[in-house]
Parts: sequence; structure tokens; C-alpha cells
Amino acid sequence: MKQWRLDCSRQTLVLASLEERLPQVIYWGDPLPMDEDLATLQAAHGIDVTGGMLDENPDLSICPEAARTFPGQAGLSLRSATGALILPLFRFESVDANDAELSLRYRDADNGLNYIARFAVDAKSHIITAQAFLEADSPVHLNWLSAPVFPASQHSAEMIDFAGRWCGEFLPNKTPWSAGIRMRESRTGRTGHEHFPGLIVPNTGTSNTKGAAQAFHYGWSGGHKMIAEELPDGRRQIQFGNASETELSAGTTFQSAPLYATYSNEGINGCAIAFQRHVRDEIVSFPDTKRPRPVHYNCWEAIYFDHDLDALKDIANRAADLGAERFVLDDGWFGMRDDDTSSLGDWAIDPRKYPDGLGPLIDHIHNRDMTFGIWFEPEMVNPDSDIYRAHPDWALGASDQILGRQQMVLNMALPEVREYLYDHIAAVLSAYPVDYIKWDHNRVLPTPDAAQTRGTYALLERLRNDFPSVEIESCASGGGRIDFGILKQTHRVWLSDSNDALERLRMQHEAALFLPSVVTGSHVGPRKCHTSSRELDISIRAWVAAQRHMGFEMDPRELTEHETSVLKEVTQWWKDNRNWMADADILRLDSPDPAVIAEQQLATDGTRFVLFAGKAATSAQIQPRPLRLACLEPNAQYEINLLNKADAPALSRGAPILKDQKITLSGSYLMSHGITLPWTFPDTMWVIEGRKC
Ligand code: DGJ
Repeated sequence: MKQWRLDCSRQTLVLASLEERLPQVIYWGDPLPMDEDLATLQAAHGIDVTGGMLDENPDLSICPEAARTFPGQAGLSLRSATGALILPLFRFESVDANDAELSLRYRDADNGLNYIARFAVDAKSHIITAQAFLEADSPVHLNWLSAPVFPASQHSAEMIDFAGRWCGEFLPNKTPWSAGIRMRESRTGRTGHEHFPGLIVPNTGTSNTKGAAQAFHYGWSGGHKMIAEELPDGRRQIQFGNASETELSAGTTFQSAPLYATYSNEGINGCAIAFQRHVRDEIVSFPDTKRPRPVHYNCWEAIYFDHDLDALKDIANRAADLGAERFVLDDGWFGMRDDDTSSLGDWAIDPRKYPDGLGPLIDHIHNRDMTFGIWFEPEMVNPDSDIYRAHPDWALGASDQILGRQQMVLNMALPEVREYLYDHIAAVLSAYPVDYIKWDHNRVLPTPDAAQTRGTYALLERLRNDFPSVEIESCASGGGRIDFGILKQTHRVWLSDSNDALERLRMQHEAALFLPSVVTGSHVGPRKCHTSSRELDISIRAWVAAQRHMGFEMDPRELTEHETSVLKEVTQWWKDNRNWMADADILRLDSPDPAVIAEQQLATDGTRFVLFAGKAATSAQIQPRPLRLACLEPNAQYEINLLNKADAPALSRGAPILKDQKITLSGSYLMSHGITLPWTFPDTMWVIEGRKC
């Protein structure tokens, strides 16, 4: 018998094996005493055998093996180069372990295979990273390789995963556990709006702020598969890997992407904070960590393809006056790109629109104290482009494939394609002072292919290496490529093409389960939203953007005096607070009113917070229900200030004290009774600042 453990202050993970077989996770939960007897624990973990069963329970190992009569989905599926099914049986070979890492090596001598599993626990973020590797003595075809398998809690009644669509990312799905499999698979060759690679397994009764939960995220941008399975005996397993059959050629080395897993007994927020911190501090590497996130202006919804230098200069002036610090020139500056039917791949500045190149625009932007960012969609090509006419063989898929937004996908596995893209992007980055790229990806692949994702990562890596000060945003028609794999190469995600503040309010709330505010772009959109046709007041539009990495995307020429002044005020507030908010934890509050979506951003030292209470619909009852805060010190006193008192509508006729003055209350009161806010209309946001006294 062998046992290994990994610990951080929040959790213990114990793996154990019998007779040289692959180990099982036999414990994952609250920290165990360091002197816990792991042999006894292993014995205690054993389950009974009854009628109709085998004489022993097959291991639910970190890579369940079909050849051991495992009664569920195996962790590995492969065939020989000639197509014969291989059923591996691994035996222990070696272990390499320290306090924070565990690396286990197994061998199947008969089939000439090695299986390696690596686990690492980050003591600061509380994230466990687990990854599987397969080596073959001679080429094999891989169908499926799961990252190391974790057992799902026996105390959970349902699991939460995420669906979504264009302009509607991060839609949670709640599925009761029952016998059999819940499978999610993104077969589109990118992470996808439809299947965010995340899963939360809360114990029964767990809420955002209380109870135990397990959570998972798979860091891969090429599409994933998740299997959440309850075996006939009641045990449950979680598998995550690259979407199946995406290794199109036989090979001798394969690996899963990292699976990020965490356990918390401080509610789902405990998991959310772990992911937020891990992304911010361990995954993303900002070129300049001291640089505050700049307020963006993106011209897409103002001008679309209609680039006119004078108009852009006017817009830039107005954006700068509002407080923008980075001006992003979106789609339409290259080739003959007057609409979305042509020119992707022809990455040369359009001389009709910019006869003197981008210099005059960039100089103007710099004179207004903004930096310059630019849009690319490197992996794509329009059939109507010079590059496609020259190299039709560079496009993936059949020539009569269904196009997406009139475009095809370049084969990023081809070195000559990467070389071409590198040269053209590098030419722009070398010729002009660019400090940001919005990297788009607006269609799915004709066939999923892991080599495509590896090619994209390689191009990103090379560009980052050669232009280390350039920040990159991952966009794919909004949130179609959001995962920790792409975030290793980039610095921001475009959460959605919806700039509708109400939609964003909800999406941001859900995305905070995995993403910190510093990487989550959020822009103030046009008064009448272009993707929902909804008209929203400037106050909620501005405050929703101020919850994350703030920016503007409307045409500033449409703004009234009132809108301009609200926007300037909120932007200034964001700038005054962005430094501490960049490191803050986003705590999703358990709102007792389904119409209210609320979060508390709490400074790491606990001395201050801001509460955003968005009223996304009309409440069933008349009065707002008190909102309970989280993670405060019960005996400390907090000064509470309703920041936007002026937003109280005339129909709020009473005199709740917060409308009038700051008040000081204990953490205990704020967490157990909660804050009583004034009445307000739907589609509005209250913003409350709190400071520990
Ligand atoms: C899709 C993106 O999500 C938008 O923000 C914009 O950049 C367009 N592509 C440009 O074509």
C-alpha cells in the first residue's frame, strides 16, 4: 500500500494505491491533521461488496482502466498505429514528491506505455493543478486522455456547469446527480460560448457564502470534454480532457491540459476566490505589474468598418475627455475591409483609409495621453482575400465547407502559416507603438484539432517573447475563448459582445466564479444597445463597467451633457479605486431577492469593500430585502456609505438612513442581518462603500 498527501491551509488531498496499481484519490476535503494515519484512512475508505458485484470494487483511480473491469468511463482510450484497441494496465514505477508537488510515474511494459500524473498545490491560491502525460514506445492513436480523475462529493445533490451563446455567455446549468453520465463536450475547436470548461460540485445546502464545494476548470482553448459520472455503486468521478479524437495523427507523447481543482468549506465563494487569485497571480503575466489597468476606449460600436481619420480623431478627443487611457482601433483598418466579407489575412494597412499609415492617428491618440491598441483576427482568412487566393491550401477543411461570417480558418499547425502571421503582425508592432492587441476568433473550426490550438499558443508565445510590453486580449465573438490556457498567453478577455449592462451584470456575476476583475473587460455601450435593442440609463451602464476592467465602446458623440458628467464621475471613481480593486476578491452575495444580483469586492487586507447591488428586474415584494455581506470581521465596525444617493428616484419617498448619511455597523450585523437599501427602479445599481473603522 502506498499513500501520498498534498496540503494547503484549506484542503488535504490524499492519494493511495494497492499492489502497485494506479492510485485513487481517497480523500479530498478539510485539512487533515498532519499525523493522520494514512494507512488507516485508506482502509476506512474501502467500501463493501454485496450481491451481484465483483468480489472486489474496481479502483476509481486517477485514470480508471477499462482492463480492470471498471464499471464506467475509462480515463484513457487509445489504439495502436494499425488500429487495434489497446487496454493498458499500469504498474507503479517511481514517485517524486515534495510538500507542494507530487509526480507519479507508471508503466505498462506489455503495451510499451508510460503514464505520468502530476499534482501541485498552490499554498497561496489553494488551487490544485493536475495534469496527465502519456508516452508510447511506438506511435499510437489517442482518442481520450483524462487529466487525473477526482472523485465528486458524495454529499452533493447537483452539479453546476455552464452553457452559453453569443451575447449570452456563462449560463449556469444545474443538474441533479443520478446514475450515469453527464457529459459536456465542446467540439468546435475552441473553448466555445456554449461549453465553458468549468464545473462546481456543491454539497447539499451550500450557498455562495456557506458550505463545502469542489470546483474544476480545464485550461485548454481547443475544446474540452467533461464527464461527471455516477457509477452503479454510487461512486462519482470527474474527468476533464481535450475533446475526444482531436489528436488527428498517431504520436508517442500526449498530455492533458492542466486541470485546476479546488475545495472550499467557505461556500462557493471560497472556490471562486481561489480561481480569481490563481488567474491573477499565477496564470496571467502582465508586462508591467505596477501599471494600473488603463481605461479602454474601443471604437467598434461607434464606427464599425467606417474608418475616417477626422471622425476617429474627434472620437479620440471625446474618449480622452471622458477618461480613456487606451484607444483601441477595432476591425476595418487593413486590406479592403469595408464589411465582414473580405480581407481577413491581408494584414496591411488600408491606404484608402489611412493614406499616411496609422502614424497620424496614433500621434493624435498619444497627444491625448492615450496608448494605442489594435485588432487582429490572425487565425482567420476570407476566401475573398489576396492571401487565400495565393494559398488556398492554408485553410482548414473542405473547399465547400460552410463558412462562418464569410470566413475560413487558417491551419495553425503549418509552420509557414505561423511564419506568415508572425511577419505581418510583427511588422505592425515594429512600425508603430502598439501596447495592446485585441486578438479575435470569430468562427468555429471545420473539425476540432488539438494541433490548431498548439499552433496558436506557439504564435502567441513567439509574439509575446519578441514584443513583451504588448498586452493581448482574447476575444472570440465575445466570450468564445475564455479559459486559463489562453489566459497564460493573454491579459484580458472580452467577456461578451453584449454591452447590454443588464446582460453583463448577470454574466459578470457568473464569470466571477472563475475570473478576477483585472482580466474581465467591461465597456459602457451605446444608450440603445446594439445587440439587445434595450435602452438603459447611463448610471447602470457606467457602474456595471466599473465592476470590472472598465472601458467605453459607445460613440461618444451621442452622449448628452448629463451622460457625459455621470460617465466622467464614475470613471474617476474607478480610477481612484482600481488599485485596491485589482487585488480584491469578488464575493458573490446570496441575494434573498432574485431580482437583485449583488457582489462585494473585498480588499485583500479586509479594510475596505465596495458592494454593487444591481436590480435586474422588478421585485415581487415592495421593499428591498436586506443584503447580507460576507467575510467581514464580526467584531469590527464598518462605516457604510451609499455612494450614489443622487440616483434615488423620486418614488423612493421614505427616509432610509443611508439616503442621508454614512452609518457605522458591526461586521456581525452586516453579515447576519444585512444592509437595508432604499427602494429603487429595476435596471439600476446601488453602490455602497465600506471601510473598517
Ligand atoms: C467580434 C468581436 O467580439 C467584436 O468586439 C469586434 O471586435 C468584431 N468581432 C470585429 O469584427
